[in-house]
Amino acid sequence: MPKRLLILGATGSIGRQALDVVERSEGLAVVGLAAERSWAALLELAASFGVSAIALADADAAARAAESWTAGRVHSGAAGLVELIEATEPDLVLNALVGAAGLGPTVATLGESIDLALANKESLVVGGELVGALAEATGARIIPVDSEHSALHQLLAGEAHAGAQSAAPPRAGTVRRLVLTASGGPFRGRLRAQLAEVGVEQALAHPTWSMGGKITVDSATLMNKGLEVIEAHHLFGVPYERIAVLVHPQSIVHALIDLCDGATLAHLGYPDMRVPISYALHYPERGALPVRTLDLVEVGRLDFEAPDEEAFPCLRLAREAALAGGSGPCVLNAANEVAVHAFLEGALGFLAIDAVIAQTLERAGAEPVHSFEDLYAADHRARALAREAVLALA
Ligand SMILES: NC(=O)c1ccc[n+]([C@@H]2O[C@H](COP(=O)([O-])OP(=O)(O)OC[C@H]3O[C@@H](n4cnc5c(N)ncnc54)[C@H](OP(=O)(O)O)[C@@H]3O)[C@@H](O)[C@H]2O)c1
Repeated sequence: MPKRLLILGATGSIGRQALDVVERSEGLAVVGLAAERSWAALLELAASFGVSAIALADADAAARAAESWTAGRVHSGAAGLVELIEATEPDLVLNALVGAAGLGPTVATLGESIDLALANKESLVVGGELVGALAEATGARIIPVDSEHSALHQLLAGEAHAGAQSAAPPRAGTVRRLVLTASGGPFRGRLRAQLAEVGVEQALAHPTWSMGGKITVDSATLMNKGLEVIEAHHLFGVPYERIAVLVHPQSIVHALIDLCDGATLAHLGYPDMRVPISYALHYPERGALPVRTLDLVEVGRLDFEAPDEEAFPCLRLAREAALAGGSGPCVLNAANEVAVHAFLEGALGFLAIDAVIAQTLERAGAEPVHSFEDLYAADHRARALAREAVLALA
């Protein structure tokens, strides 16, 4: 029986690459698709994959889809995404939404004891502790899609004595350190003063990965790596001081683990998101993909350098928010989403992105978090503060 797969964010960069993986696999059957407002594109995908249940988070888009589609059910609004998870009874949900909007579907999936292929790193940044506790309580697995975390998941499988079936932390203490690589983005090597005039088009010109707009800007500011440090902490249970970031412009080495006996293991491959997506969708099996085998002679050289936190303070801000704990990472994420949105709209300069985040973190502080409601409230408040900062800095 093929695995029943529900894809949230089907019209996006990860969603479409996931559908490419599905087309090449006999082990996967798509049972539902969701997006925010690209209703026409979603209907096309539903027709191609024979799907009879979809959801659109935007109510107007859902209404337009429902008017022109008789082949199935259209669920509407943020609640519609949760309804879709319940109605389609998937074996696996791929959460490829952008931003904190992914938290609700992550919680709904894990709450239903359904395995989660997680691209939406913001779910773990915002609610890592509660999300982790929920997965543990229901027994649902979180299989990372982010290439670095997929690499770590594979590297740690041989070290996690809790079993290769899970992303369980290396409890036996054989792992000294996790290392996440970062391409460095389009502005690697520039001094801070040289970033004052960079525009949207330049920030969106990522040197090695082709991705959605928000994550591409996050890569340019290095916030993406900050979010990934928090994601790795929650996925693998490793303390922050033992998670390092290494800039590697060729994006061939995706992650490394340093072990207690001095051995270091690395995961390598050409940058192609279909590889970690396929890993997450087929796990614990592997699916074949028409991806070139790595030719290191052709690659020629691999370069590494330390991240420049003077020019790109977002990585430092993320670590500080992570260490503050409580609502700190949630505030960081909300402020970043507001600032990146304003930058993409042309309302904020590139260097003001980290300023908005720093100001918001300072004003909001880090409050204790006991429930998802606490997180939603912190997110709401932080967005209001961040919008004020955007207006002041624009
Ligand atoms: N792209 C990559 O290579 C990559 C790599 C690693 C991790 N990730 C992570 O994967 C996630 C998705 O990234 P992406 O690059 O694929 O983004 P993207 O290309 O912008 O696509 C986002 C998808 O999510 C939908 N969406 C956005 N907001 C939504 C909401 N509030 N409710 C329902 N649907 C919503 C969009 O629908 P519409 O089309 O209607 O807007 C679209 O289908 C992010 O968390 C990112 O950090 C991405």
